[in-house]
Amino acid sequence: MLLLSVRKTTGLATRLLLRPAVIHRTAALSTSCIRHNDSGKIEVLGSTYTTDKWTNATSAILSKTGRDLLHQPSHPLAILKEMIFAEFPTFAHYDSLSPVVNTYQNFDSLGFAKDHPGRAASDTYYINADTLLRTHTSAHQLELLAAGKQSNAEILAQAKNAQAAPANERFLVAADVYRRDEIDASHYPVFHQMEGVCTFSRAEIREHLRREAAASATAATTEALNLDLSAAQLLDTTQIGDTNPVQPEHTAEEVAFVAAHMKRTMNSMVVHILSKASAAAAAITDSTQVSSGAATQFPVRWIDAFFPFTSPSWEMEVLFRGDWLEICGCGVMKQAILDDAGMPDRIGWAFGFGLERLAMLLFGVPDIRLFWSTDPRFVGQFSPGQINAFRAFSRHPPCPKDVSFWLPADTEFHENDLMDLVRETAGDLVEGVKLIDLFTHPKTSKTSRCYRINYCSMDRNVKHEEINAIQDKVRDRIVSQLGVTLR
Ligand code: DAH
Repeated sequence: MLLLSVRKTTGLATRLLLRPAVIHRTAALSTSCIRHNDSGKIEVLGSTYTTDKWTNATSAILSKTGRDLLHQPSHPLAILKEMIFAEFPTFAHYDSLSPVVNTYQNFDSLGFAKDHPGRAASDTYYINADTLLRTHTSAHQLELLAAGKQSNAEILAQAKNAQAAPANERFLVAADVYRRDEIDASHYPVFHQMEGVCTFSRAEIREHLRREAAASATAATTEALNLDLSAAQLLDTTQIGDTNPVQPEHTAEEVAFVAAHMKRTMNSMVVHILSKASAAAAAITDSTQVSSGAATQFPVRWIDAFFPFTSPSWEMEVLFRGDWLEICGCGVMKQAILDDAGMPDRIGWAFGFGLERLAMLLFGVPDIRLFWSTDPRFVGQFSPGQINAFRAFSRHPPCPKDVSFWLPADTEFHENDLMDLVRETAGDLVEGVKLIDLFTHPKTSKTSRCYRINYCSMDRNVKHEEINAIQDKVRDRIVSQLGVTLR
């Protein structure tokens, strides 16, 4: 179940990058949604915004906007970012774009339908009706493409490797992205993505096609790059066709070239990075330390997908501990985006990678909350440019607390409102929130739900009194903010 893609997948583990399908199809805000600021103003990263009935960004979430994990050189996410940047020396690298974007950037510029479920307030953090915390790095595609055409120096100056020219034709964007979500070990309402965009002039493509058949491009380049593909088995049986079509603006040959270029670029990047992880794991095994997260073989497969802003579209998955983990969505960019950017003579591919999922795999980090830990026992384990397996420093016993309540009769109950309320109250002490019982009274038709909140610190001993006080606060807030009745 995905936000921006509609392919159905199974299992909770597959939802880090491309989030669950949305059950609430209306864009209207539930009356129970959390309003954290009654002053009519919100401050985010030094700018002030007027709130309105769409506002649902909690202070817990807003406090994450300044953490800047991608700029802490020893942080696993920053290490991974730099590794990916290094794989693309000819691309412009952006990693300082503000997470505050408008609905045009995040949705309209990419061709999202007005009623696309991804726009719902139950799934997106709105600052107000027009302004939100970006839900994906694709939000920057159009503005960065157009920046070159418009000579927008303010944006272009943010590109890190100035030798990559022109900065608007090939670029990477690493950034924090925000989505309202459930709470468990692999979901966090803030995570990081890497967007890649690569465009070619049609003349350039014609020239390439003349020189070599697109079909042999993969083999030829793999050889030319002298890649060691042993760290990943690559499986690709996807086909471009009716269900994953070429756009009317493109020829089959152009798309075959662009898609082959994209897949080979991404395969090569993933293989390089996974090989480093394999080498690190081997080194650790040699020195008889225990590696928790690294494996030496990472089968990679391509599957068909759907996104509003690409066609054809794919997802890349990696087999890890028996599960296919979706790590990346990609495809041939919708021509309308390039047209709108003033580049109708160019064709491009784009991808979006979820960094946490890959970093958890590479560094063996078992819980996504750890990336936000400021404990020196976490942050002190990593060094720039290196992949090493995380060693758990503490495991405190979880403390489960249940809460049961009757749903309100007159307002809709959105589970993500509960998730945000718990996060807002308990911060990172909450490890998971799970629905454990659902009951509809046969006579009154009233429905009740019971959730188990698992409290567990990543890094310190927590006293029972502290948890009890938090749980009491959660119970009070559920009643006052979500309009439910405790059982
Ligand atoms: N933005 C998508 C998401 O977060 C991922 C993605 C898919 C990015 C396809 C792309 C792309 O650039 O071409 O779900």
